Amino acid sequence: MKLVLIGYMGSGKTSVGKHLASKLDFLFYDLDKEIETRVGQSIAQLFSEKGEIYFRKIESELVNSITHSKEKLILATGGGTPCYGDTMKNLLSCDNVITIYLKTSLHILTDRLYKEKSERPLIAHITTRDVLNDFIRKHLFERSHYYYRALITINVDELSVSEISEAIILKLF
Ligand code: S3P
Repeated sequence: MKLVLIGYMGSGKTSVGKHLASKLDFLFYDLDKEIETRVGQSIAQLFSEKGEIYFRKIESELVNSITHSKEKLILATGGGTPCYGDTMKNLLSCDNVITIYLKTSLHILTDRLYKEKSERPLIAHITTRDVLNDFIRKHLFERSHYYYRALITINVDELSVSEISEAIILKLF
């Protein structure tokens, strides 16, 4: 079984993925880290030196190879992973892959990302909270269509990382 966590930047995919992997004794992969290892650059450097299109190409190759492995694993994707090319369609048709959307409200994403925007090239240039809120609102609206195709959706707003893991386990088993 392969569990693929999807959702907007700041929705907790990495923290939940690590926690869930240790509970279930599954391997854990963080897609951004895998990309950084593959290219030998940080995501920010990759965006600025080779551009977003190149990043999306590597991202889709890696998500494809990780989800076709035979291992029991959890993959935390990047916020844009399911929204480009055929990635979401491929994930939905891949054997033993369960996609899980960590649905998070706009105000929570804005609060979190305002503090953590510097490492994220898509939002690093935004200077005020209001502009960030507006950006996320529009971006989330465009991306939600892909996120909602996940097999499982968890509303994570009021939940801690361990409660989210429990909620996922309850839906799975
Ligand atoms: C992106 C999200 C980031 C990272 C890259 C692009 C996006 O991952 O993949 O900066 O398009 O939403 P996180 O969702 O882990 O921040």
